[in-house]
Amino acid sequence: MHSIRPYKLFTLLDASGIDRTGHVTIPRHRGAGSVMLLETFAIIAAARIVAARRVFEFGTYLGSTTLNLALNIPNDGEVFTLDLDPQAANGLFQLPGDATLTEEHLANCEGLDFLATPVVGKIKTLTGSSLQFDFSPWKESIDLTFIDGAHDVKTASSDTQNALMMLSRTGSSCVLWHDYHNPKYPELTTYLDELSRQTEIFHIEDTMLCLHFHDPSGKFRAHLLS
Ligand SMILES: C[S@@+](CC[C@H](N)C(=O)[O-])C[C@H]1O[C@@H](n2cnc3c(N)ncnc32)[C@H](O)[C@@H]1O
Repeated sequence: MHSIRPYKLFTLLDASGIDRTGHVTIPRHRGAGSVMLLETFAIIAAARIVAARRVFEFGTYLGSTTLNLALNIPNDGEVFTLDLDPQAANGLFQLPGDATLTEEHLANCEGLDFLATPVVGKIKTLTGSSLQFDFSPWKESIDLTFIDGAHDVKTASSDTQNALMMLSRTGSSCVLWHDYHNPKYPELTTYLDELSRQTEIFHIEDTMLCLHFHDPSGKFRAHLLS
């Protein structure tokens, strides 16, 4: 696992002045599963660096990252966001921390952050367990995937395989994982450390984010390792 300072990612964005502006909503709530502001900036920066038009999020939760992603992709962009519905959640094995987040999501389905916003048309909500979901229609068509659903290794590894399968191969694209070094999910950290032996992954310091670029030119890798 490589470690990078956040500025290394931010300086990959080849833009200046007003073209570096990102759109971030002021949080309405602080759910236990929400990402921090620095993490939001890193996710948005990654989306801008790969010029993301199609995004896939594992774990909608309260919809705040979904909204921030939708605000920072082009007008014809799409954010697909997958979460459990009551049927899929019923009887599903979940770590205790994950079950609480699912309860919060299900209790707030009518009030997700992106509903009643001007970018709601860019967002496609999907329901079901990612362990059962058929991702094949998105094969090699996604520019950025954010993996932040269930944190047990079985699901994280299945989500990772599906995310890598969905990554667009025509230009640059990326996968982000949340909750690396989260003390609530030590097995996820071990899994990502093991994965990093075969797939190049960067941990963004001061965050719980890990990042993999599909980077045919090698220029992102060269910058991040310099
Ligand atoms: C940590 S929260 C996501 C946070 C969100 N990405 C954000 O940035 O605000 C995790 C979400 O994943 C969902 N989830 C858990 N297991 C899942 C599964 N097997 N398939 C799909 N979604 C799942 C939970 O219901 C919960 O809403």
